[in-house]
Amino acid sequence: MGERIAKYLASCGVASRRKSEAIVEDGRVTLNGLTVVDLSTKVMPGDAVSLDGKPVKPKGGFIYIMLNKPRGYLTSVTDDRGRDTVMSLVDAKDHRVFPVGRLDLDSEGLILLTDDGDLAYRLMHPGKNVDKTYYVSLSNPLKEENLHLLRIGIMLEDAMTAPAQVELMHPSGLILRITIHEGRKRQVKRMIEAAGSKVLSLKRVAMGTLKLGGLKTGEWRYLTEEEKRELGVTHE
Ligand code: URA
Repeated sequence: MGERIAKYLASCGVASRRKSEAIVEDGRVTLNGLTVVDLSTKVMPGDAVSLDGKPVKPKGGFIYIMLNKPRGYLTSVTDDRGRDTVMSLVDAKDHRVFPVGRLDLDSEGLILLTDDGDLAYRLMHPGKNVDKTYYVSLSNPLKEENLHLLRIGIMLEDAMTAPAQVELMHPSGLILRITIHEGRKRQVKRMIEAAGSKVLSLKRVAMGTLKLGGLKTGEWRYLTEEEKRELGVTHE
């Protein structure tokens, strides 16, 4: 997996392979913010590569895809057990796109795929506080005091969560809309379990400024110019 740094630069049209090697050895290239001079360094999907401080983009520019992930697909580029991944649902053959962040195998909803490592870093890095909103259906309604715990922060096995925004979406109390900005493993499910219920289904409907809107399950589309602007994409 991955591609040698000079080959990657050459494939982006920076210079010939040989000249790209010299550019790397001159210390002008960074990988995820760190200068690389070792020519055996590999670029993996999701890595951010810059030359003289400017992001290196693929010929033809970066691409940005919103997918409504169905249940049963992994949010990874490949799977060593041969299971279906979200890559099989989008048409991005000539690009090294990868899913930004993850949804569990049995979760649905908004997932962004891109080859722009810089944007991925900005969206996913802890401390960036990007809101993610989910609709969840529950096995049983939560008591008011437990909803309150979700809203002020609830103890999970590893640590407290940050306060979440939680709204009841149905009088039965069985459907919630919950917004969090952390991205711990199975976080929403674990929060709901800690509050005394169980998630039966979970769908992400928004991430930062992106909204799933009417995109149907299993369908994808390119982001609009406005959506890209709102995400702060300036180097397309
Ligand atoms: N929280 C979860 O528990 N699962 C997801 O897929 C996303 C957020």
